[in-house]
Amino acid sequence: MPELARIGVAIPADLLASFDQQIERRGYQNRSEAFRDLIRDSLIRESVSAPNAPAVGTLTLIYDHHVRQLSDKLTEFQHDHHHQIVSTIHVHLDHHSCLEVLLLKGKAKDLQAMADKMISMHGIQHGRLMLTVAGKPIA
Ligand code: NI
Repeated sequence: MPELARIGVAIPADLLASFDQQIERRGYQNRSEAFRDLIRDSLIRESVSAPNAPAVGTLTLIYDHHVRQLSDKLTEFQHDHHHQIVSTIHVHLDHHSCLEVLLLKGKAKDLQAMADKMISMHGIQHGRLMLTVAGKPIA
């Protein structure tokens, strides 16, 4: 357990009341843990915004595999980037729809560029990249 520092923060009462309601809905036991998570999230977002930052993350894609050549295109693209794609999970949601989750590891800018290319492919209905880091910023 790292050494803890105590701080006093001045916040408008209604803002704090809204925050307390939100963290209760999310299941936080206390305000301190919620504040710590907000600070970590802010530090991580800044960290992965640096182009050469080492990052890990997930890319979630939803697509219709009947769209012409999309499956082949996706497979070929992923083989071309096999160094950054640690693993993939493919789920056939129904007759048309596929859910694919890719676990990525590499430089933040490379992962962002890869994700942008896949998300913009014709037939991809929804895509979202989530980047994070392991280690230093997460005390
Ligand atoms: Ni499928």
